[in-house]
Amino acid sequence: MNKISHDVKDLSLAEAGKLKIEWAGQNMSVMKLITQEFAQTKPLNGLTIGACLHVTSETANLVLAYIAGGAKVVLCASNPLSTQDSVSASLVEDYHVPVFAIHGEDKKTYYQHLNKVLDFHPQLTTDDGADLVTLLHRERSSQIPEILGSAEETTTGVIRLKAMAKDGALKLPVLAVNDSDTKHMFDNRYGTGQSTVDGILRSTNILLAGKRVIVCGYGWCARGIASRMRGMGAIVTVIEVDPVKALEAAMDGFNVDQISRASRYGDVFVSATGDKEIISTTHMKRMKDGAILANSGHFNVEFDYEGLVKCAKKRRVLRNNLEEFTLASGRRLYALGEGRLINLVGAEGHPAEVMDMSFANQALAAAWFVKRKGTLKSKVYVLPKDIDQRVARLKLRAMGMRFDRLTPVQRKYLHSWQEGT
Ligand code: ADE
Repeated sequence: MNKISHDVKDLSLAEAGKLKIEWAGQNMSVMKLITQEFAQTKPLNGLTIGACLHVTSETANLVLAYIAGGAKVVLCASNPLSTQDSVSASLVEDYHVPVFAIHGEDKKTYYQHLNKVLDFHPQLTTDDGADLVTLLHRERSSQIPEILGSAEETTTGVIRLKAMAKDGALKLPVLAVNDSDTKHMFDNRYGTGQSTVDGILRSTNILLAGKRVIVCGYGWCARGIASRMRGMGAIVTVIEVDPVKALEAAMDGFNVDQISRASRYGDVFVSATGDKEIISTTHMKRMKDGAILANSGHFNVEFDYEGLVKCAKKRRVLRNNLEEFTLASGRRLYALGEGRLINLVGAEGHPAEVMDMSFANQALAAAWFVKRKGTLKSKVYVLPKDIDQRVARLKLRAMGMRFDRLTPVQRKYLHSWQEGT
């Protein structure tokens, strides 16, 4: 019997999980350096970190970096369907981390697990989607004075936190880790791009070449998806409400249209907007027989999965994460992963090489909070540029690439105004 407090699916999966964690770690070279540095300098000594993240092999490597830095870590899932049960088992069994996460847990258990993490009275929290920090504000506000701050991993979470700050509801300092360049320009674009294609293919095994793929949104995530779909030979249409982004999509060579029109011709629909009701049942009723719906945005509200469930006459599961819905018209629509983020539900999330940079920012964010203890206000901060530059330098070095330096003449020229025509 394991003495560490936990709620995971099956501890006998630990051996497989340990190997998975090791393999991810081999592809996280920046994290390796930070973990070594943390092991020597112990910047997180004595700290309890409550983490609400996707429980993956990459996240496990972040947990190990926190521990190397001297922290105790308690972990729960940031989505009911993204937990890798072998990883949670290994974290408990091999690394003695209290983990509360089971793949497929229902909403009640999901929130019980978040509460379990708060029962450990963390002094620092980290979120992917802001569920832990909002729970803290709504139901456990007496613990807020114990907390140095909270880090947020994803765009949707940052949007929520900024809304809280605007309402005057935010009661602790938060760090928008997502807003670091070495996070969103790489994780959101290349990570989401590749892992979304991966999730759709693992769930359906369809051929993308020649398919009409409708990508909803043209933020960092959606533009990654559009670009990777094009790379697979799909004919891509972008749906966007911001005219500048729509124009960008057009000049990047994509068709740009409205969802009310594209719903008639799309073969595959993928949303990554951070907003809700992008694809309604009205749109779905217009879709072709065989159309596939997937979401890669953080919450399962981007296409109306519940509405589809309600209006369908018949429902069947054909494969893992692939459900068929027959409408009154007789047309069949296919929803992937119950509308939850398909890159984590149908595949394994972003590859380790890109999570390397995201989690390097997370690890350095924890140390940033400790250094500034007692000096921060209840607002949304971003990490300083020198951290971004450091992460980029380390990543380039690990990739065996060199970047150039300004000569003194070039530097002087860039800081002067006297020289012109
Ligand atoms: N978000 C997207 N991909 C992820 C991964 N592999 N691990 C943790 N969080 C993620």
